[in-house]
Formats: sequence, C-alpha cells, structure tokens
Amino acid sequence: MPQEETAATTAPPQQQLDDEIENVRVVVRTRPMDKNELTAGALSAISVDKINRAITVMKPNATANEPPKTYYFDNVFDGSSNQLDLYVDTARPIVDKVLEGYNGTILAYGQTGTGKTYTMSGNPDSPQTKGIIPKCFCPHLWTHSQGPRESKVPGAR
Ligand SMILES: Nc1ncnc2c1ncn2[C@@H]1O[C@H](COP(=O)(O)OP(=O)(O)OP(=O)(O)O)[C@@H](O)[C@H]1O
Ligand SMILES: [Mg+2]
Repeated sequence: MPQEETAATTAPPQQQLDDEIENVRVVVRTRPMDKNELTAGALSAISVDKINRAITVMKPNATANEPPKTYYFDNVFDGSSNQLDLYVDTARPIVDKVLEGYNGTILAYGQTGTGKTYTMSGNPDSPQTKGIIPKCFCPHLWTHSQGPRESKVPGAR
C-alpha cells in the first residue's frame, strides 16, 4: 500500500462537524484469517486501531530499516466487525442522503479475497451476514418512503 496511492493520511482526521457526512469517506475493513491462512501459520501484516481509526502495516520478518507504517482513515473495522455496525456507520448516512435527493456511491475496493463481496452482498438470507446492498432495501427505506405519503393526508396514521 504505497502511501501516495491511498486516500489515507498520516495525520489523524479532523472530528466531523455535527455528524454531517463528508463528501468522500474512506473506510477500511479487514477480515479474519481464513482456514487456509491459519493452517499455513500465516502472520498478520496489519493491525487495526479502532480508537485512532488507523491501520498499521508491518512486513512480517521485517528488517530494522523496514519499520511499520501507520495510515489514518475516516473509520476502520477489524475482523470482528459485524455487518450491521458497518452498515450503520458507512452506508446508512449515504442512503439517508440519497433519499433526500443527493447522489451517493458506495464503492468497495481491494485485492481479491479481501471481503468486497462479503461486505457488499454477504448472504442476503441471513440477518447476521446480510451485506450493504440487501440492507439498503430494508425497513429503513420503507420508513422513508412511507413518511411523505402519510404526511399528505392530514391526521392519517
Ligand atoms: N468480515 C469478514 N468476516 C468473515 N469472513 C469474511 C469477511 N470478509 C470476507 N470473508 C470471507 O473471506 C472470503 C473472501 O471474501 P470475498 O469473496 O468477499 O472477497 P472479494 O474481495 O469479493 O474477492 P474477489 O475480488 O475475488 O471477488 C469469503 O470466504 C468470505 O466469506
Ligand atoms: Mg468478490
């Protein structure tokens, strides 16, 4: 992850004002090691610091002149994160803005096998593993779409 090719900064991000989402947010989610990686005794090359919203990349077996590098993001999620937390932090504010008439895009980017499909689609049949896309079409949307219709009928519930 060369520094100049990432949207991350090397300084902690400013606190967001009034919970208003910024035009572009960069969020990193890491996944747990899979069976093959565990069986092979693979070493993790990253650590996730949720408090400072930072990812540290360290080369396993690095020499003294290859120190770890830390990158700061708008938010970070480690391998224990669940689909709902990720949706609430990352996608829901964009869905809200789209329903107010703004354009919004959620883009998953990463090396193969890093969890893009898991995060965006997941398993739509299970509430625990449902990803961002099926979660967008949920009661949250219905609440919005029914609000204005109800308000056109004074006194109607
Ligand atoms: N946050 C996570 N928690 C648990 N398992 C995960 C997580 N993210 C991904 N996985 C698992 O890791 C594997 C690879 O994930 P996935 O298929 O989503 O990667 P991908 O980025 O879409 O890869 P590709 O670019 O090849 O399509 C899958 O078996 C998936 O279930
Ligand atoms: Mg995929």
